Amino acid sequence: LARGIREPALAGRHVVISAGGTREPLDPVRFLGNRSSGKQGYALARTAAARGARVTLVSANPQLPDPAGVDVVPVGTAKELREAVVKAATDADAVVMAAAVADFRPASYATGKIKKKDGQEPEPVALVRNPDILAEIAAARPRPGQLVVGFAAETDDVLVNGRAKLARKGCDLLVVNEVGEAKTFGAEENEAVVLGADGSETPVPNGPKEALADTVWDLVAARLVS
Ligand code: CTP
Ligand code: CA
Repeated sequence: LARGIREPALAGRHVVISAGGTREPLDPVRFLGNRSSGKQGYALARTAAARGARVTLVSANPQLPDPAGVDVVPVGTAKELREAVVKAATDADAVVMAAAVADFRPASYATGKIKKKDGQEPEPVALVRNPDILAEIAAARPRPGQLVVGFAAETDDVLVNGRAKLARKGCDLLVVNEVGEAKTFGAEENEAVVLGADGSETPVPNGPKEALADTVWDLVAARLVS
């Protein structure tokens, strides 16, 4: 079957996807960020739209054009991403957290640009934790029967860490990627295994991010009731 017309479709469903990487500001010109390109989240948005879903894409700082027919909500920080995802999730059938959310943000924000001081070393940057959006959504389930999907990037003991993370987050599916120096970030292709809270384990061979996205939607659609 051609992409976009495979069954089961997502017609009449509302799906919320987060994509990209958050930026946590230090001052008006600087931020702490990460290397997420947003490509996997955008592939999820395109493939869900192709299956007939209404798609809300909460997008953190990607350098990518808006996908056609998708409602894009631009955000910057983890806090903004949380607000947008929580709001959109109210009536969502599925929430997929593909964004790389910063675990920490600077403890304080300087309203003016931080300047060097003659003969002085800089102050260390104090960090505080950001909220865990995936765990919060999975615990809240604002809509009954809502499916919650997380992504995890692991460098070691991928399956063991993935299972532990799935349980900790309380989500239904966790897409586990093995990452390393040259792997995944910004790449066009992705190799992963999708772990289910029901014990399922679906390997996805190295291939385009659309193929991984299609596998995610197959697994989601099969688990959506009525
Ligand atoms: N996530 C989130 N909120 C955060 C951090 C992560 O919603 N503050 C989501 C990500 O979008 C992803 C999943 O949680 O779907 C797993 O992210 P990951 O960084 O692998 O998990 P962490 O719990 O942050 O664990 P680690 O200490 O390994 O980074
Ligand atoms: Ca993290």
